[in-house]
Amino acid sequence: FPVKWAHSTSTMAAATEDNWSLKDQIAKVFEVSLKVTVPDEPEVAPLIAACAKKEFGDYQCNNAMSLWSKIKGKGTEFRGPQPVGQAIMKNLPTSEMIESTSIAGPGFVNVKLSRQWMAKSIQKMLKDGIETWAPKLPVKRAIVDFSSPNIAKEMHVGHLRSTIIGDTLARMLEYSKVEVLRRNHVGDWGTQFGMLIEFLFEKFPDGEVSDQAIGDLETFYKASKQRFDGDPEFKDRAQKAVVSLQGGEEKYRKAWAQICEISRKGYGKVYEHLGVHLEEKGESFYNPYIPGTLDLLREKGLIEESEGAQVIFIEGKKIPLIVVKRDGGFNYASTDLAALWYRLNEEKAEWIIYVTDVGQREHFEMFFTAAKRAGWLPTDESKYPKTNHVGFGLVLGDDGKRFRTRSSEVVKLVDLLDEAKTRCKAALVERGKAAEWTAEELEHTAEAVGYGAVKYADLKNNRLTNYTFNFDQMLNDKGNTAVYLLYAHARICSIIRKSGKDVEELKKEGQLILEKEEERKLGLHLLQFAEIVEDACTNLLPNILCEYLYDLSEKFTSFYSECQVVGSAEETSRLLLCEATALVMRQCFHLLGITPVYKI
Ligand code: ARG
Repeated sequence: FPVKWAHSTSTMAAATEDNWSLKDQIAKVFEVSLKVTVPDEPEVAPLIAACAKKEFGDYQCNNAMSLWSKIKGKGTEFRGPQPVGQAIMKNLPTSEMIESTSIAGPGFVNVKLSRQWMAKSIQKMLKDGIETWAPKLPVKRAIVDFSSPNIAKEMHVGHLRSTIIGDTLARMLEYSKVEVLRRNHVGDWGTQFGMLIEFLFEKFPDGEVSDQAIGDLETFYKASKQRFDGDPEFKDRAQKAVVSLQGGEEKYRKAWAQICEISRKGYGKVYEHLGVHLEEKGESFYNPYIPGTLDLLREKGLIEESEGAQVIFIEGKKIPLIVVKRDGGFNYASTDLAALWYRLNEEKAEWIIYVTDVGQREHFEMFFTAAKRAGWLPTDESKYPKTNHVGFGLVLGDDGKRFRTRSSEVVKLVDLLDEAKTRCKAALVERGKAAEWTAEELEHTAEAVGYGAVKYADLKNNRLTNYTFNFDQMLNDKGNTAVYLLYAHARICSIIRKSGKDVEELKKEGQLILEKEEERKLGLHLLQFAEIVEDACTNLLPNILCEYLYDLSEKFTSFYSECQVVGSAEETSRLLLCEATALVMRQCFHLLGITPVYKI
């Protein structure tokens, strides 16, 4: 991401309205100093990072070294990086934000933030709402292409990963005020439809098809595939059906639409369970745009004939990208090129993010390269518009192999979610909650915790690694799990409830102070929320947010074991800190697509 520094020299208020990254706030102060220190280098952007060693400070400015190598030998009065650092430090404008500064090593300027400023900023967030802490990204509109199952096939755990990861990325971008088009690029086109349609005609010659009649689409798919493989005459008819469908023949279009609709209902159930919302624009949607798109690429001289097919050769790749098959038909790649054209030109998206398993990396790399060569995308990847493939690893079973059921079928998504919920419910009943809570409360909590556990177990890993699906692990109430985190949040809520105080009143009247070291550490962590979200968005890595969340609950635990809350002299301040922690935790849950619970 090119970081754009706003040119503002106004004195620091508790928080600037437009951007709540702590790092950026500090950068603004240093920007002023850099301009004074090296007036001949106006374009130097402050390099700010959190201090690795906390005893040095909270953040540091790392410009001295690189500045020194830029200016040395050009008649500068400085005699090395250290004096440059000294000058940067000396030229800092007075800022409410900074308590003290120091120099370390070859000119690093360490900054210790002021406790008063920190406390004031947290209180401001409590008053104005967590939305004001959102980072600001340099994009207005993005597309997240995720979930994207294939018609007539059951969604499996791979699609679960795409759905969960894509939803989180969309949520983080939305929070960062980016308009997100959530696209379900379903596989609703292609030669398999000839086979499915012919099979449908065979089974229902009078055209009376109901969902129940087809039943399980997966079984339907398998049966038609068997028919296709076993009977050349059927195969022939299926191939002709593809032509009729693509030619737009009414009867075939209708059958196709019926099959899609049944699939859609199946996916709809999964999305409802997961609380995920998407807008379908399947492969078929882009079909009319393919010929025009290919013409554009032809004009640029990108498309060549090769062994009867039309292809785009990509440097460094042995096999070219096929865009028109030997039989004249289009394929996955031609569709993706047309979709990209549409997204850039019709939908005016500046950032297009594709979430699929890593196995498809090559496909994406190839058509991204083609788009760059066509001049649709800048070759400089730090510029917009841009595309990213968000790849993820496999889901493994306990045996370390691809996750399957005992009968070695692919595992169905809905079954997984249901099982997680059932197990959570059993655990709650065991803890006597059936007697304590209403039936709805029990149901709601089991669902929030169960589904949350499945999502979090996926998101907490770096998405590129394979991960092992294990109910016992993900439902453990200790360690880095959703169960632990949801309970930690509920516990904070119960501390607040037990105090008998009205938090809304405290927010208005009370004062937050960060006196003890544990309070300060927790406060600093809270203030880092925006930059963490920014980091997770920029790198398209939801696990960064999970780490932050887990860390937050750990910092809260240290605070709570050191600082008495209810009944102490600092009760008001500490209740406010509890409330801020709960609020940021809830926002993390929200971004991860997890429903918080308030009672345990
Ligand atoms: N339907 C594809 C699959 O299940 C994923 C589509 C991803 N999106 C895209 N624009 N290619 O593998």
